[in-house]
Amino acid sequence: TRDLATLLLSRIRDVADYPEPGVMFKDITPLLADPEAFTALTDAFAGIAERTGATKVVGLEARGFILGAPVAVRAGLGFVPVRKAGKLPGATLSQAYDLEYGSAEIEVHAEDLCGDDRVLVVDDVLATGGTAEASLQLIHRAGARVAGVAVLMELSFLDGRARLEAALRGAPLESLITV
Ligand code: PRP
Ligand code: MG
Repeated sequence: TRDLATLLLSRIRDVADYPEPGVMFKDITPLLADPEAFTALTDAFAGIAERTGATKVVGLEARGFILGAPVAVRAGLGFVPVRKAGKLPGATLSQAYDLEYGSAEIEVHAEDLCGDDRVLVVDDVLATGGTAEASLQLIHRAGARVAGVAVLMELSFLDGRARLEAALRGAPLESLITV
């Protein structure tokens, strides 16, 4: 609802020129420190998990871990971390993706997702969509289905929604705040 978006937005701090000149950083630490806002966010994401029929929650390192883990607990689902490359000790699937300058790589433990799973991806910000798109490719390659992507904030001017469209395969992208 409008009120939820207003509450959440009031707890996100804009930091100009961080981490580099010209970038407006969206700092969610005030939201995390406010139990009313963090609980409202968790409940909203858990509602999306239930509506989309998710069986697992994937959180994207690092801020997606903080937001996604309580959603999994609240919704009664398992939590699966998608980590930056080189951090998971078991058999992994890896997915590289392009950044504005250079590239990045994320990984998941292959055994954590199976063919019966419907996966909700949780993260804080959808910017270019590169990170979320790579996570959807990992989910498909693991043989699981995508229930949806849920983000706290979508930066619509970067058009991440269009970048995700093919990998969503009809599943919803839900953003609680669009700027
Ligand atoms: C940030 C943000 C999203 C991602 C969005 O993560 O938390 O995960 O970028 O950007 P994109 O849509 O262009 O891929 P980042 O890896 O910068 O830092 P974090 O480890 O603090 O989450
Ligand atoms: Mg991140």
